[in-house]
Amino acid sequence: MIKCQKHLFDIPEDITYLNAAYMGPLTKQAAAIGRQTIDDKLKPWSIATSDFFDIPEDVYHQAAKLIEAQPSEIAIVPSVSYGLAIAAKNIKAEKGQKILVMADQFPSNVYCWKELAKETGAFIETVSWPDDNNWTAAILSAIDDNTAIVAVANAHWTNGTKIDLIAVGKKSRAVSASLVLDLTQTLGAIPFSVKEVDPDYMVTAAYKWLLGPYSFGFIYVAPRHHAGRPLEESWITRKDAHNFARLVDYKEDYQPGARRFDMGEKSNFINAPIAASSLRLINELGVENIARYLKSLTEHITKRAQAIGLNVSNSEHRAENLIGINFGDGVPDHIASTLADEKIFVSIRGDSIRISPHIYNDRKDVDRLFDVLEGAL
Ligand SMILES: Cc1ncc(COP(=O)(O)O)c(C=O)c1O
Repeated sequence: MIKCQKHLFDIPEDITYLNAAYMGPLTKQAAAIGRQTIDDKLKPWSIATSDFFDIPEDVYHQAAKLIEAQPSEIAIVPSVSYGLAIAAKNIKAEKGQKILVMADQFPSNVYCWKELAKETGAFIETVSWPDDNNWTAAILSAIDDNTAIVAVANAHWTNGTKIDLIAVGKKSRAVSASLVLDLTQTLGAIPFSVKEVDPDYMVTAAYKWLLGPYSFGFIYVAPRHHAGRPLEESWITRKDAHNFARLVDYKEDYQPGARRFDMGEKSNFINAPIAASSLRLINELGVENIARYLKSLTEHITKRAQAIGLNVSNSEHRAENLIGINFGDGVPDHIASTLADEKIFVSIRGDSIRISPHIYNDRKDVDRLFDVLEGAL
């Protein structure tokens, strides 16, 4: 098992940061890269035309490695909503067909489907919260021959209940439904392989568990959709874009693979090198190792929560990285203010306190949280 990686980060001793699901910190190394890339912009003559392509190439490789894909299957997007808009633009839904989403799913993975439903006459079916926390069974039983799209995640963003995407992928393929995933709340913390799940589209933001910058993420597009329509018609996605002298020789063809789906100005000279560095760290540590480490922390959270009679989701259906403590009638106001006074950072989502440790946390952070919670209850 890996050890706590706090030495890589700049987190002061009096801060207990258990909120990666809100926003992950950069490493000190990624921040140094960012300072350098800002300095580089003081001297645009130091930015070569080849950088427009080489800088994103590093991101494609690291992102592909993370999910067992090919670099040519990855495109750079500025947000999850952008990536999901690519999926919504390219998937066909017929009148009367259903688009499945989970109850209280993150809105970026809901609004695009509402719009698609309005345009096509398809309808949204929302899978209700399962009483037994078994989202996988609930989603599987909702997928049928009339399903056009299954738009889900592999853990519920509010409390970390887990979904078995291998099973969901299998059932989606069996009924010819498209599988679209937003893995923002787990990628980098829980293993995921496109080889095992075979989604049509998978999108993630980089600024949480991938410890990357804001306004930067990526989409995996399955090769069967590589002839699809991009959201933008950027010069940089077209054939021969490398030839800056001849860009006005307009080309009908795009570059191969998923290149056509890249956002305009994908070669973000400040964010892309930071993102590549963060992805490289996650790959070097190994997501399996990270998941095992985080599981040891969420298990400790469970033990401490149960010891003081708090209600945590069933461990059988829980993601390794994210855990919700449910307060039923809402989290008492004074708890949030006590935690803030003690510089303990967690999120309140719905009726739960959401605790999301990452590689810079250790058991002492968990103990500090529960010592304060115990006193405040
Ligand atoms: C599950 C999930 N998806 C996506 C996002 C961010 O979406 P966007 O990039 O569209 O702002 C968040 C942010 O909290 C999230 O929790």
